[in-house]
Amino acid sequence: MNKRVLLVIGGGIAAYKSLELIRRLKETGADVRVVMTKAAQHFVTPLAAGALVGERVFTDLFDQAQEFDVGHIRLARECDLIVVTPATADLMAKMANGLADDLASAVLLATDKPILLAPAMNPHMWANAATQRNLEVLRADGRAFVGPNEGEMAERGERGFGRMAEPEEIRDACLALLSDGPLKGKKAIVTAGPTVEALDPVRFLSNRSSGKQGYAIASALAQLGANVTLVSGPTALATPAGVKVKRIESARDMLSACEDALPADVAVMVAAVADWRPSKTAKKKIKKGDAASAVELTENPDILATLSKLTKKRPALVIGFAAETDNVEANARVKIAKKGCDWIVANDVSGDVMGGNDNQVMLITRDAAQSWPRMSKDLVAQKLASEIAEALKGKATRRK
Ligand code: PMT
Repeated sequence: MNKRVLLVIGGGIAAYKSLELIRRLKETGADVRVVMTKAAQHFVTPLAAGALVGERVFTDLFDQAQEFDVGHIRLARECDLIVVTPATADLMAKMANGLADDLASAVLLATDKPILLAPAMNPHMWANAATQRNLEVLRADGRAFVGPNEGEMAERGERGFGRMAEPEEIRDACLALLSDGPLKGKKAIVTAGPTVEALDPVRFLSNRSSGKQGYAIASALAQLGANVTLVSGPTALATPAGVKVKRIESARDMLSACEDALPADVAVMVAAVADWRPSKTAKKKIKKGDAASAVELTENPDILATLSKLTKKRPALVIGFAAETDNVEANARVKIAKKGCDWIVANDVSGDVMGGNDNQVMLITRDAAQSWPRMSKDLVAQKLASEIAEALKGKATRRK
């Protein structure tokens, strides 16, 4: 890979994994340059990082020699991607607020290149409202994230969300962002997970979708170079690398998030959208005796049908999923016709597909059907992404 990655090492215990990341990135053929914060140097030395990259490590904004040699503006621009490992709470806060009082933060502010952050911090710091606010700001600024993962912390006895992603995961996220894959320049919208329809402040109607299949598809499309917006109902899943996520609750919110993400070349509607919502959402908790009148239902908008029937901004390829428990192919064909989409991926949900890690699907187009063997949801996603890439090959598809 003929690309340059600028690695910004932040000051946290996970900094040691950055050394392994340098090796993993160099194995792909990438050229790696390193900037270290002052705090990072308490955890790993510039000497160690420099030995692995084979050139000097940049540490100081006010060092005359370093500024003369390369300078923070050239560091920020002479690369294809910047990756921050670990993205500490402090670095995230600086980035979210545009502070630039050291070399790392000045480079991050001065760049016009994609930035990938691999956060790592104590779970309480991650959960803190200030960090979560900064995360939202950075996401809205288009920054990509990988992790954090859940697990044991360096602090004895602590567990939770805050572990930095492993070097291989960060390398894969870098590859996705640097990809010159067949979907480069294409935009995809993917929906995933359940929708949640409020009955009152504490109760809702929903379903058992975990989001795994939709997240895997969003990730596979990003790995092929697509610019992916994932519109997700509530799930326990981490944001896939290189994917923009819009989190919503209800079907109506999912529809407006999809409409906001248009135009797109392909839309893959994997979400298990609630077909109905309570006609009224009570402002106060419904009393036991009032339950019967509380469950009057109204039909939700059909997101797949709405996107399929657009006249102006219809994506060139609109793909639905069909969750069936019997007559899978016949029912799925009825759905293609009724909703007006181009393909349907039909799966039998009478077993463990919803929530599980594997799936057995049938890809149904208007004139053909292929039955795929049972495989992991990740593999289903990769196969589907290849089919999408093949279908969009060479097409100038996006309608403004
Ligand atoms: O999330 P997982 O645990 O990984 O499980 C994956 C899955 C089983 C949820 C997924 O593979 C799947 O089948 N998704 C579609 C679920 C569904 O709602 O199927 P459906 O047959 O009811 O709907 C058909 C299509 O219309 C779907 O693309 C659905 O997103 C869409 N739809 C449905 C209703 C509605 N109001 N708006 C919609 O857009």
